[in-house]
Amino acid sequence: MTQTINFSRGVPDPLSFPVAELQEMTAVALKNDAAKMLQYGPAAGYAPLREFIGSWFGATASNVLIGNGSLELFGFVCEAFLQPGDVVFVESPTYDRAVTILKKHGVQIIGIPVGENGIDIDAFGRALQQHSPKLVYLIPDFQNPTGVCTGLEARKQIAQWSREKNFLIVEDGPYAFLRYHGETIPSIYSIAPDRTLHMCSFTKLISPGIRIGFLLGEEQAIQQVARVAESYYITPGYFSQGVVAEWCSRGLLPLQLERLHNLYRPRLDACVAAIDKYLPGTLIGRPQGGFFASIRLDARIDERELLAAAQEAGLVLTSGNAFFVGDPGYRFVRLPFCALTEAEIDEGVKRLAGVVKKLSA
Ligand SMILES: Cc1ncc(COP(=O)(O)O)c(C=O)c1O
Repeated sequence: MTQTINFSRGVPDPLSFPVAELQEMTAVALKNDAAKMLQYGPAAGYAPLREFIGSWFGATASNVLIGNGSLELFGFVCEAFLQPGDVVFVESPTYDRAVTILKKHGVQIIGIPVGENGIDIDAFGRALQQHSPKLVYLIPDFQNPTGVCTGLEARKQIAQWSREKNFLIVEDGPYAFLRYHGETIPSIYSIAPDRTLHMCSFTKLISPGIRIGFLLGEEQAIQQVARVAESYYITPGYFSQGVVAEWCSRGLLPLQLERLHNLYRPRLDACVAAIDKYLPGTLIGRPQGGFFASIRLDARIDERELLAAAQEAGLVLTSGNAFFVGDPGYRFVRLPFCALTEAEIDEGVKRLAGVVKKLSA
């Protein structure tokens, strides 16, 4: 029987989880600080981890809020800063779960197109002539779902507009440290720390189950979000924060990043090579990191037919339309390469090309 290839979920490869290190750090952390790790504490997070994250990002502990995953923190940010009817700009396509949260807050969501160089800055400028956003949600590094990065000039322009037009930027950066080729691009947070809430997470760096996401920003904004967080859970998961604080204090983060780069780099390369080989001209940008590559197909290919035909060919895909606020105007397919071997990636893209050829005939 043909083995099914799952191109649907952007989850880390379990091979990447530092299990033995976490076992050891759990014992050490409990020995050193059980009374704090197992107790209620400030909603902003376990103090030693706040300090580590603050210095990692060139800030201080008071600029850091740690929560149970970054997605929930985004919900708290929305609750702290948004009112029903407010305008929010997002990239189009963007992370679907963030849009689901925005919809719960009753805001008007405007999608700004993303191309091979990240957000379309001219389209952003035109949208600003028509709307006054309260908040702009962006994933500038190895964006979910496209895999592309927004360049430095566009980041500076957005930072400048945020001052002129008085909007808050939420920069979601869970993939920023997963760069396998090329040079790091400074974050918007580093350009405009007074206008930006930078979100990041240990989900892609250690494991999703550890449930540690964090937010960096000005102290007052951090306190505002911390008050919302406290109203929901009093204290976030100090136990895992204590273990991760110990792990970070041992200098294990740079080693883990190197392991992740070595694991994922050949998978990204395999994915890009397979798209070039089997579906030439469809790749959106040339991803240099993260978990995703993506392709653009003819809008005349019906999405439901595509997903069904892929399934028949032993390929699981997710809906590309789900990443758009409106009609994309083309057929979008996200290809998460992170949890597949190079051989599976090659075979998966080959099967997809077969399906596309059949449906285009
Ligand atoms: C852009 C983006 N933001 C947030 C998250 C959620 O991260 P967490 O597990 O920290 O809630 C994901 C997970 O896939 C993501 O891709």
